[in-house]
Amino acid sequence: MARQKIIIDTDPGQDDAVAILLALASPELDLLGITAVAGNVPLDWTQKNARRVCELAGRPEVLVFAGASHPLKRPLVTAEQVHGSTGLDGPELPEPTMPLQTLHAVDFLIEELLRQPSCTVTLCTLGALTNVALALQRAPEIACRIQQIVLMGGGYSEGGNITPAAEFNIYVDPHAARIVFASGVPLVVIPLDVTHQVLTTRKRMDAIAAIGTPVAWATVEMLDFFERFDVQKYGSDGGPLHDPCVIAYLLQPKLFQGRLCNVEIETGSELTMGMTVVDWWGVTDRPKNAMFMRVVDADGFFRLLTDRLKTL
Ligand code: BDR
Ligand code: CA
Repeated sequence: MARQKIIIDTDPGQDDAVAILLALASPELDLLGITAVAGNVPLDWTQKNARRVCELAGRPEVLVFAGASHPLKRPLVTAEQVHGSTGLDGPELPEPTMPLQTLHAVDFLIEELLRQPSCTVTLCTLGALTNVALALQRAPEIACRIQQIVLMGGGYSEGGNITPAAEFNIYVDPHAARIVFASGVPLVVIPLDVTHQVLTTRKRMDAIAAIGTPVAWATVEMLDFFERFDVQKYGSDGGPLHDPCVIAYLLQPKLFQGRLCNVEIETGSELTMGMTVVDWWGVTDRPKNAMFMRVVDADGFFRLLTDRLKTL
């Protein structure tokens, strides 16, 4: 079976970390590299956290690149209130010893997409879209070589989580998101509408803890820390587990349901900055540029995640 080549662009983040673990636990996926971007915490932490997670999974050979330390036009907004000061608060994870690659993440994205056969690489983006937008700006010829971008970001019926209108990843760099959504690359969007259905309930966390491995315990410690902010905010049993949904989509797309529609990014209004304006009902004739997901089989998702974590 041919393995699906992917690059993960990420700002770990506990939920990013679980997404990376899920990818590393999945033999169907060929992880060409991880590109770090500033977001949940500054870049110095996100690139280091990506390496800590690879080492946790016993995969120090994974290539990790550092990318943009700031959004294209706006000052960086971070989310230590959710993720802790390191971005990966919860378990005690050692300082990484595997190297950070010297190549800039944007150069890696461009070089790798030009090196691989056209339309064989999927970008999985779990943070702000700054690295991808910079690559598209610098080398527009890569757009038609990207198989698809599967991204966690945006919201429609759920509104926003950092402002009433905007989801965090899009809000951090709305100008980058605008470039990506206008690029013509096939997009699959996993928004809050989906991730708010994927809750880290006690029962689901207990099932992961019962695996009884260091990876499983670290996962539960990360998610226990991560969920406390959202549990208080939403009053739910567990918090939304956003980023692993991107990887789960690649492994089992039938878990998700959505619709191909037009999605535009607001960059003009401070009030609604970073809003994903979703033409769900097709009331405009704007081009349908994104498969926008709305529904997920959450039990199926956690079955997949738990089974895969057993292999690490
Ligand atoms: C997104 O924002 C980040 O805090 C999470 O890692 C996720 O990518 C959810 O809005
Ligand atoms: Ca993230």
